[in-house]
Amino acid sequence: MNKKLVSAVLAVALGAGAGYALNAYAQAKPADVIKYRKAVMTVQSWNMRPMALMVKGQLPYDAALFSWYAGVVEQTSHMLPDAFAPGSDKGAETKARPEIWKDAGKFTQAVERFKADTASLVQAASKGNLNAVKGPFGAVAKNCGGCHKQFRSK
Ligand code: HEC
Repeated sequence: MNKKLVSAVLAVALGAGAGYALNAYAQAKPADVIKYRKAVMTVQSWNMRPMALMVKGQLPYDAALFSWYAGVVEQTSHMLPDAFAPGSDKGAETKARPEIWKDAGKFTQAVERFKADTASLVQAASKGNLNAVKGPFGAVAKNCGGCHKQFRSK
């Protein structure tokens, strides 16, 4: 390897490392962040649906499956900081309201509540009993609607 190539490779490696230390994918293009955000939201609603059907008694309650879906939604709650990275207020079609970044404290609060409520749902689901998950599931669902009302435009 010649010297130039070595330093180019090093620069890429160091650049990627520094990006991680700050905020994973901080250098992603806004359009890619928006695409990721919509994908995360799609995963959330996909996994909420069977739980909603079980809670309503429209699908037989399956404790292992319910726990799996709850776990996926809990995981997605940790994806929201990346999915709403600063600078992703525009760059592709988006319904995310500017308040997300202008009033970041409020938005962070909403994300933190979502994380806490999804964690409670995972905990409740581990008990393997339908009655135990009904309340925590309702609390998680409220986060979806609540955040959309406040931070998503029509
Ligand atoms: C902390 C705020 C917040 C929470 C919590 C949240 N969402 Fe969202 N959601 C948004 C915002 C903002 C958008 C608009 C994203 C955009 O257009 O860029 C959105 C968009 C969506 C979309 C449309 C995605 C698309 O393809 O355009 C779906 C579906 C969705 N959310 C489902 C859910 C579900 C289900 C939950 C609960 C499990 C949830 N969301 C929780 C803020 C939130």
